[in-house]
Amino acid sequence: MTKKPKFSIIKNVEIGENTRIHDQVNLYKCKIGKNCKIDAYVYIEEGVEIGNNVKIRPFTFIPTGVKIEDNVFIGPGVIFTNDKYPRVRGKWKLLKTTVKKGASIGAKTVILPGITIGKYALIGAGSVITKNIPDYAIAIGNPAKIIGYVTDEKFKEKVGRFLEEAEGELKGEEAEWPWP
Ligand SMILES: CC(C)(COP(=O)(O)OP(=O)(O)OC[C@H]1O[C@@H](n2cnc3c(N)ncnc32)[C@H](O)[C@@H]1OP(=O)(O)O)[C@@H](O)C(=O)NCCC(=O)NCCS
Repeated sequence: MTKKPKFSIIKNVEIGENTRIHDQVNLYKCKIGKNCKIDAYVYIEEGVEIGNNVKIRPFTFIPTGVKIEDNVFIGPGVIFTNDKYPRVRGKWKLLKTTVKKGASIGAKTVILPGITIGKYALIGAGSVITKNIPDYAIAIGNPAKIIGYVTDEKFKEKVGRFLEEAEGELKGEEAEWPWP
């Protein structure tokens, strides 16, 4: 960890080198890899595993049972869940969720319990994910539906053009093409 946050609860967390954790977070008994960025007001529960180079934007909730692989982007206000039939008391079953490497989850997405989001998938802002999302799929809406694949030539051209036209306004570091 490069900076020690002042107004946070960080207990029994394994944190990889070069990972930046912003303030006002609540992280306990979880594992976070190298070169990650965890923004403010992020809440991560016991047993969660987060890979390397993962970016988690503010106001995200990640409960027990969630695994996030390397190079995943989690937008602001993303809510994961782990209990399909929640009740205040009594037995419940933990359903596990995995986000595979390279996937991106748009802002304010809700992910129902027991879901797998495939590698390099792209989830649109405000989606509700009720079913597994295949590798490379672009999914949007409530309930989320697949509208294409990040590997589609048309989509690649569109994103390529978008970035080219934004020349001069581009932000972020030089990186390899972030799409498969
Ligand atoms: C999913 C996404 C990648 C699609 O981008 P795109 O392929 O360029 O899509 P377009 O803007 O061409 O829109 C295509 C259609 O989908 C709809 N649409 C786009 N994003 C949507 C979303 N998140 N939810 C619902 N509908 C959406 C558009 O209204 C449009 O509908 P229409 O054909 O009826 O007019 C993008 O809209 C998105 O949500 N990105 C995530 C942004 C985000 O959360 N960033 C976090 C960092 S701040």
